[in-house]
Amino acid sequence: MSILIKNGRIITASADYVADLYIEGETITAIGENLNKEADEVIDASGKLVFPGGIDPHVHLEMPFMGTFSSDSYETGTLAALHGGTTMVIDFILQTQGKSLRNALESWQGRSNGNCYGDYSFHMAVTDFNDETKKEVKEMIEKEGITSFKTFMAYKGALMIDDGQMIGLMKEVKEQGGMVTVHATNGDMIDTLIAKHKAEGKLSPLYHYLSQPEITEAEASGRFADMANYSGVPAYIVHMTCEGALNAIRRAGSRNQKVYAETCIQYLILDASLYEKDFEGAKWVMSPPLREKKDQAALWAGINQGLVQVVATDHCPFEWEKKLMGKDDFSKIPNGHPAVENRMELLFSEGVNKGKISLNKYVEVTSTNAAKIFGMFPRKGCIGIGSDADIVIFDPNEKHTISAKTHHMNVDYSGYEGWELKGKCKTIILRGQVAVENGNVRIDKGYGQFIKRSKVPQNV
Ligand code: URP
Ligand code: ZN
Ligand code: ZN
Repeated sequence: MSILIKNGRIITASADYVADLYIEGETITAIGENLNKEADEVIDASGKLVFPGGIDPHVHLEMPFMGTFSSDSYETGTLAALHGGTTMVIDFILQTQGKSLRNALESWQGRSNGNCYGDYSFHMAVTDFNDETKKEVKEMIEKEGITSFKTFMAYKGALMIDDGQMIGLMKEVKEQGGMVTVHATNGDMIDTLIAKHKAEGKLSPLYHYLSQPEITEAEASGRFADMANYSGVPAYIVHMTCEGALNAIRRAGSRNQKVYAETCIQYLILDASLYEKDFEGAKWVMSPPLREKKDQAALWAGINQGLVQVVATDHCPFEWEKKLMGKDDFSKIPNGHPAVENRMELLFSEGVNKGKISLNKYVEVTSTNAAKIFGMFPRKGCIGIGSDADIVIFDPNEKHTISAKTHHMNVDYSGYEGWELKGKCKTIILRGQVAVENGNVRIDKGYGQFIKRSKVPQNV
């Protein structure tokens, strides 16, 4: 199978030019002006932008959480991602406390194997670090190609580890060539505030937000950066939301330590005023919560200053019926919101079109940086000869409106209902196959592959 893409405006993290692209099998084999090649399929991309396929390194598909499962399966979640220009996701395996990493891996493989439309990988969340877990770190990296280890500084009793376990894990991951990532909020502070609000009868979604003030994230981000500095491990903070946390990594930078930071699309464009909508605010109950306008400004600036490398989603959808589990108690509302299908188009419309980020920065934060940080570059995250032909052909002028009635995510509401966007993913190619064209799916379930990742550079 070969594809010739004619006259597209190719945008990478560092270049912007009009050319033809030639794809043979799963890879890009030629780039140039007026390529004279026979192809099974020719796509005219005149007037369109051509991006590397999006990589969303923070999604939760079919994840057991807060007494239920996130509502997108590997099938529906990776297909929705493709519709929105994201050709690869990295999902999270959660170790069950008292059980092994291998046990968790097998259970996640049971749900994902053979069911994905798009490519995928896993981060391994270590929720119980002990002598047995320690032995499994090397095996995960070398045998399974799972090179990033997620930690939680919150969700005590289910997912949270203490600082002693954190240091132990960091040392072992450093030794074996991996990276430690973190949900950086102070779980004890949050639990105390939740208990206080409940005791006072303050039970609406607004109190989810008020139980996780900025300081809980700023403190944990600084502590995590300090522990990573002490152990020397490459470090990455997921879903960063606020100025205080950003300042913590800015301080780390001033001692020459690199702490990678990811924010998510919602933290750039939504704010905490949504929690004032009574129970409707449950649509945006997530952890950390939405913040203030001043935090949005800090995050956009952080992207342009190179402090924030990735814009992900933390896609973790729950149907409205599941959100209602917390009707009378905000602490029972399953945390998370749907966005994997919307990330690329929202960031283009709200970021590029509004002059907040350049086209090159757009590609960096939606694709290239994630591929580099998580050990997949240059196979993924770039348009270059020899790279996987993961391509988005994008119409920068097409207008459309987000709605749960038309989205492909398996959830009955959208946190962005009625938002009018300019810029649409038209053709999405995954490893040399047209996966989606004008909304029509052209691949089968199971085409998506598990991508083994490389060790992470340790020169931090
Ligand atoms: O609210 C969220 N973020 N739900 C998913 C789990 C997590 O903390 O990332
Ligand atoms: Zn989290
Ligand atoms: Zn998450």
